[in-house]
Amino acid sequence: MTKQTLIAPSILSADFSKLGEEITSIDKAGADWIHLDVMDGHFVPNLTFGPPIIKAVRGTSDKFFDAHLMVSNPDVLLDDYIGAGCDGVTVHIEACTHLDRTLSAIREKGARAGVSLNPHTSIEGLSYVLDRLDLILVMSVNPGFGGQSFLRSQLAKIAAIKELIGDRPIDIQVDGGVTADNAGEVIGAGANVLVAGSAVFKGGPDHYEANIAALRA
Ligand code: DX5
Ligand code: ZN
Repeated sequence: MTKQTLIAPSILSADFSKLGEEITSIDKAGADWIHLDVMDGHFVPNLTFGPPIIKAVRGTSDKFFDAHLMVSNPDVLLDDYIGAGCDGVTVHIEACTHLDRTLSAIREKGARAGVSLNPHTSIEGLSYVLDRLDLILVMSVNPGFGGQSFLRSQLAKIAAIKELIGDRPIDIQVDGGVTADNAGEVIGAGANVLVAGSAVFKGGPDHYEANIAALRA
């Protein structure tokens, strides 16, 4: 059965001076999930926001809060992010010494468990944790910034992950440089959740609904 394509706008591209309003706007414009790009300035060169901001905007939308933790030591942060209202927590495989334990902990704390792979990372590390996973996030840019170009090398990785998971109920999410022009190829390769920042927020609030619809088309 083909999964419905979900659109998860990344608030990294939102107007941070009115973040709550922006989240409400993309919610009403048709966003399925709200993608929260958490960056610690260590695992990636940029620093964005943390649990206090997420807690502050939690009430602006009932949509699924999809936290992408681009941080060096996620194990010590799980309670804070889940406590702030994150429904899904995705950690980077490159940042986890004990990935099986980290994923189990996310689920035990009541959130969906995801793992993300940077463009250079092969999929072998997923083989023995598939039963711990609700989501696999393929980075199609080198993480840290919005507005980068899609790395086409990741299309083959998406297809390989699709084959690896078989009929397991695991979402395949792609993040970075996704636009209406390449969304079809990304979905065709096997993804069912598209993260987009600049492609959704370009043009301002009056364009959000059309931008999201263009990705879904
Ligand atoms: C990059 C972030 C992505 C990025 C997507 O580190 O994880 O979510 O914000 O932004 P666009 O869609 O503009 O590439
Ligand atoms: Zn992201």
